[in-house]
Order: sequence, then C-alpha cells, then structure tokens
Amino acid sequence: MNGGDGPTSYSHNSHYQGEGVNVSKQLISEAISSNVSLEHISSVETYHIADLGCSVGPNTFSVVQNIIGAVEHKLLGLGSSSNVLDFQVSFNDHVSNDFNTLFASLPSKGRRYFAAGVPGSFHGRLFPKASLHFVHSSYAVHWLSQVPYEVKDETSPAWNKGKVFSIGAKPEVEEAYSAQFAKDMEVFLQARAEEVAVGGLMALTLPYTKGPVYVEQALFYRLFHILELALNDMADKGRLDEVKVNSFNLPIYIPSMQEIQKLVERNGSYTIEKIQPLTSAAKGFSSRLDARQCSMIVRAPMEGIMSQYFGSETIDEIFEKYVEIAEVNSDFVAQSAALTEDLFVLDRIGTVAYRMQLPPEAKIHNVFQVSQLKAFQGDSPLLHTPLPPLHEGWVLSTPVQVLQACRIQDDWEVPVQWADADPSDTTWVPLAAFRALYPSFELEDKLILQEGGGVVDSITSRVINRRQN
Ligand SMILES: C[S@@+](CC[C@H](N)C(=O)[O-])C[C@H]1O[C@@H](n2cnc3c(N)ncnc32)[C@H](O)[C@@H]1O
Repeated sequence: MNGGDGPTSYSHNSHYQGEGVNVSKQLISEAISSNVSLEHISSVETYHIADLGCSVGPNTFSVVQNIIGAVEHKLLGLGSSSNVLDFQVSFNDHVSNDFNTLFASLPSKGRRYFAAGVPGSFHGRLFPKASLHFVHSSYAVHWLSQVPYEVKDETSPAWNKGKVFSIGAKPEVEEAYSAQFAKDMEVFLQARAEEVAVGGLMALTLPYTKGPVYVEQALFYRLFHILELALNDMADKGRLDEVKVNSFNLPIYIPSMQEIQKLVERNGSYTIEKIQPLTSAAKGFSSRLDARQCSMIVRAPMEGIMSQYFGSETIDEIFEKYVEIAEVNSDFVAQSAALTEDLFVLDRIGTVAYRMQLPPEAKIHNVFQVSQLKAFQGDSPLLHTPLPPLHEGWVLSTPVQVLQACRIQDDWEVPVQWADADPSDTTWVPLAAFRALYPSFELEDKLILQEGGGVVDSITSRVINRRQN
C-alpha cells in the first residue's frame, strides 16, 4: 500500500473504498444500537476497538469515529453518561505500513480515544484474549497471506499464465485461490474468536462476487483486467520478462457470499447478525473515473508488490501503458457501474457458542453452538467415557476382533469385526493400514495362512509349517 500523501498514495486514491466505508457506517450504527447491551458496556471501563488492515487513512479515522459516536449514543439512550467509558483504538496493519503518516494525520480536534498501532498480520493473534469489544476491517480480509503456489507453477494445471488473479481464469486457478482464502479466513476467524470478548462485534466490508458472469462485469475486475493487458503488452514488446509476467499473481481473492457464510458458520464461534450487499457503494463511481484515476486505484495498493517483483524502475512505464489502454477502453470501465460489488458482514462472538475444556489429546474443535449441546441431567459422572480414536479428524471405529489374515496378491489383509457393527459384518482391511491406525491392537496370535499352505506369524514373519495330517 503506498504510504505518504503524494499523488500515488493510498490516502489520495482510496475514494472507492471511502464510498463503501461511508455506506457501511449507517449499518454499523444500527448494529451497535441493536446489538450492544448495557451489561456489555457497563461491565468495562475501556471500550476497545480494533481496525484491522487500516492502511494510512483517511477511511480508518472516519470509521472509528463513527463506532465511538454510535456507542456513546447507545449509552445516552440507556440513560448513562457518554463520558463513563474510555475508548482505546488499535490501528493494525502489516509492519511495512506507513504508520508515521497514519499517526501524523490522526484527528487532533474532538478525538475521544487513545490511539495505538498494532503492527503484524491479522492472519494470527494480535491482541490478548477477550480484550476487544469491536473489530472492524474494510477492504482487507480479501488479501491473502500468500499467492497459492500452484498458480505460479508452469507444470501445474492451475498455472495462471498471463493473468493476475482468479477472476476470468480457469477453474483450477479459482479452486487454488478459494482454498487459500478458506485457510486464511479460518486462521483470521479463530484468532478473532479468541481476542474478542463474549458479546463483542466484528464488522467486515469486502468485495464479493455474485458469480463469474457478474464478476467479469464488475469494476474491480475490469480495473485489474487492464493491468493484465498492460503487463502482457509489455512482455510482447520485450519491456518485461515474459516468464515473470506469466507467473505474476496478486494475493487477493474475491469470494462469494456463500463462501463467507460457510466459513463463519464452520468456525462456530460467531453468529452472523447481518450479511448484505452494500447497495450503493459502486453506483455511479466508475462513470466518473478517467483513465489516470483508474491507474491510481490499482497502483496505490499494488505498487509495493509489483516493485518487489518486477523492479521499481518498471513501475512508471507499466502504469503509463495502463493509462494508454484504459483510455482506449474507457467504456469498458464506465459501463461496470451498475453492479453491487461489496458485502457487509456483522458477526457477534460467543453468545450462542461455548468453548469447551477438552482433554489435551482431543483433536476436535473446542467451540460448540448451543444447538449442538444438550443439558446433562443427574449427577456429574465420576468416570468419563474416553474419546474415540481419531485419524485426520475422522472418528475411527473400534475393532473388537481380527480374524485370520489372508494374502491378496502381494499384500496381507485382515477381516475385522467392529464394536459398532454386527459380528457377521466384517471388513477386510490391509494389514499395514490396520497396524498404522491401531498400533496397540494385539495381533500377536493372528496366524496368517500363506498361499502355499504354510502359516506365518503376522508380526514376527516367522514361517511355521502347517501340521501335516
Ligand atoms: C485496500 S487497503 C484498506 C484500507 C482501509 N481499511 C480502507 O478501508 O480504506 C487494505 C489494507 O489491508 C492491509 N492488509 C492486507 N493483509 C493484511 C494482513 N494480513 N494483516 C494486516 N493488514 C493487512 C494492507 O496492508 C492494506 O493496508
């Protein structure tokens, strides 16, 4: 993200995000008004807000001011003074973010909060347990922790030759990006589930797609497609290395609403209070953009990554080419205006989810929705039923008896009777797999018939001759 406040800086080229942030402010105020309870705020002296992926402003300042205003309004509505709470705001971004510019431009008048910088990736823990009350993040969680390696690999079916991300790319590329996003979101959601106090809120604004047909008409895609055209044109003319252009990809992914919903539900620590498109964020915006403004919207967030990859000396030329192509394709950008492209998601932590204290060897997730739990009636049991053995997250059936083994081609297989099945219902399991899954199961006395009529002790492989009658 370009720091400072020069012509290519993010602070001068974040109007698109600014429009989305403005629309989401109303939703955040409503969320605080209807979801924050007096118990929640009266039990704390300091209300702690975090803005994750804040960049350098000005959007982050307007968001936190709005959150604080809404909490104060709620306090007044509840008959309490708005001065009873202190507010602490943690501004988070990567360590490379221009925190100097951010803090130099902190509003000096009327600021009702203590400001702190928290450098580091939000794909991991950033705050102490249960220390946050409101987490906000706009236009940041669609940034991946890394580009999926397959899309850069010439030998992979997911090689994304000549394109810069998954939109408009082949299905293998989409799958690789989607899998990386799912992994990153899992880590993000888990870290926040630990950091946010029970009852706390998390508001996310991010670009989303209603499906491939729509996304290719969207402003977001069209701006980056022009970058693809510019890079390929420069490679054709020998101004950039073709091999490098073919393996250049951006670490951003545009998910669908269903993907987001599924990931939040799968994590299990949150309830989704609201998930809705930001209907007016992009409206009319693209028709007002000229070719140079388009280039700046792409350049401000991507210059750092592109400089590292292609060299800083190439950047001006790449974006001059961008402007040239955008001028020729001005309708392509202008006509992308009408579509909704951003999503607002409001999650609440913990009111219907319980984190259980499980034995350390348990490999199952320790957060359960209330609907999955039943109240225990009677006295607490003195003996606890041991957890079933697990393999890669799956519960393993318990073997009760292994019968005589048989050699099938080059391998040995054993017929197994299971605790949860009828004794007549045995399953043939390869011996090696059985041993790996149930290392403590006693197999010593299982004599294995060899094809030729000899028997082998399955464990020691001692050949014992069959008694001749
Ligand atoms: C497009 S800017 C959005 C800035 C601001 N939230 C807004 O709405 O204008 C995305 C920001 O997210 C930050 N970001 C991306 N991945 C991140 C991560 N893993 N941890 C922290 N910040 C991250 C980027 O450095 C960048 O500053």
